[in-house]
Amino acid sequence: MKGLILSGGKGTRLRPLTFTSAKQLVPVANKPVLFYGIETLAAAGIREIGIVVGDTRAEIEAAVRDGSQWGVTVTYIAQDAPRGLAHAVLIAEPFIGNDPFVMYLGDNLLAKGIVPFVEEFAATRPAAQILLTPVPHPEQYGVAETDGDRVVRLVEKPKLPRSNLALVGVYMFGPAIFDSVRRIRPSFRNELEITDAIQDLIDRGLEVRRHVVDGWWKDTGRLEDMLEANRLILDTLTPRIDGAVDGESRIEGKVVVEPGAVISGSVVRGPVIIGHDAQIRDAYIGPFTAIMRDVEINGSEIEHSIVMEGSRITGLTDRVTDSLIGRGVTIVRRSGKPAALRFMLGDRSEVGLR
Ligand code: TTP
Repeated sequence: MKGLILSGGKGTRLRPLTFTSAKQLVPVANKPVLFYGIETLAAAGIREIGIVVGDTRAEIEAAVRDGSQWGVTVTYIAQDAPRGLAHAVLIAEPFIGNDPFVMYLGDNLLAKGIVPFVEEFAATRPAAQILLTPVPHPEQYGVAETDGDRVVRLVEKPKLPRSNLALVGVYMFGPAIFDSVRRIRPSFRNELEITDAIQDLIDRGLEVRRHVVDGWWKDTGRLEDMLEANRLILDTLTPRIDGAVDGESRIEGKVVVEPGAVISGSVVRGPVIIGHDAQIRDAYIGPFTAIMRDVEINGSEIEHSIVMEGSRITGLTDRVTDSLIGRGVTIVRRSGKPAALRFMLGDRSEVGLR
C-alpha cells in the first residue's frame, strides 16, 4: 500500500503567507502541518509516499527531504498547475502503479490518525473508501449519501443535504480510480474534481464504502482553522521546560520551552510552546499560543496566536490575539513624532486595529 500526499495547490485563503511559502509548511504547535500527515501515514504502516508538489516544490523538498526522518521513502511528483485533486491522482499513476493507496490532503489534520480506516479498506477491498465526519452545516461541504456502509451518491455543497456526513480530506483507492480520473471532465472551476471521479466509480457499479472518522478533523486552509488546529494540538502537549526561566517569571499549565529559549519577567499561561532560542521579556504569553524559534516578544501580550521564525513584537499596549504572524515580521511601538501608525505590509496583509 502506498501513500499520496497533496502538497501543491494555490493556498489563496492563506494569503499573504502563501505568496512566499507553502501553506503545508505553516506550523501547528511549531511543526509544519505536512509533517503531521507524513507521521499519520507512517503510523499506518505506509512506507512509500508520493508527494504532489507545485510552485513551492523546493521549499517542501528542503523540509521533507527523502523522508528518512520518518522511516519512509518520499517520491516527489510535479504538478504543472493546480488542476484539481483528481488531476493529482492522474499524474501519480506511474508512482502508484497497481497498488492500493491512501490519498491525504497535505493541509489536513486528524486527531486519531487513519489506522482503523486503512485496516477496514484492507479487509474489504472496495474500489474506494472515503473518510466522513458529521458536520453542523453540511451545505458547505462535499456530502455523502449512504446506504449502510455503501456510498450511493456524492453531492458538492448541496442546498438540501440528505446527510450531515462531509468528506474529510483522506481517501483510499484501488487501481479502478485511474480509469475514472481519465473519464471525467473539468468542473466549472476548471479542476478535475475527486468527487466526480468517485461518483464515476459508483456510476460504473463499483463499490465505494464509507468510514466515519473517530475524533476531530481539521482542514487548515483558512486562518481560523489554522488557529483552531494549533489550539487542539497544543492541548495535547506534554509540558517540558528545557530553556531558561528566571525567578521573576511564572509558568502556568501545559507549557513547552525549547532549549535556548529565555523567559524573563513574564507570565506564560499554557497551553503554549516557545521555540528554540526565542526571547520572551516582560511579556504575557496567553493560552493556545505557539512561538517559533528566534522570536522576540518584549513588553507585549499575546494569546491564541502563531508567531513564526524570527519575528519581533515589542512594546505594544494592546494584547495581540487570534493572529498568524509570518516569518521575520516586526511589530514595534515607536516613540517620537509624529505619533502615528507606520506600516510596511505585503500584498493582501491584514491589520486589525482597536
Ligand atoms: P485546497 O485547499 O482545496 O486548495 P488550495 O490549496 O488551492 O487552496 P485555496 O482553496 O485556499 O486556494 O487543496 C487541498 C490540498 O490539496 C492542499 O494541500 C493543496 C493540494 N492540492 C494539490 O496538490 N493540487 C491541486 O491541484 C489542488 C487543487 C490542491
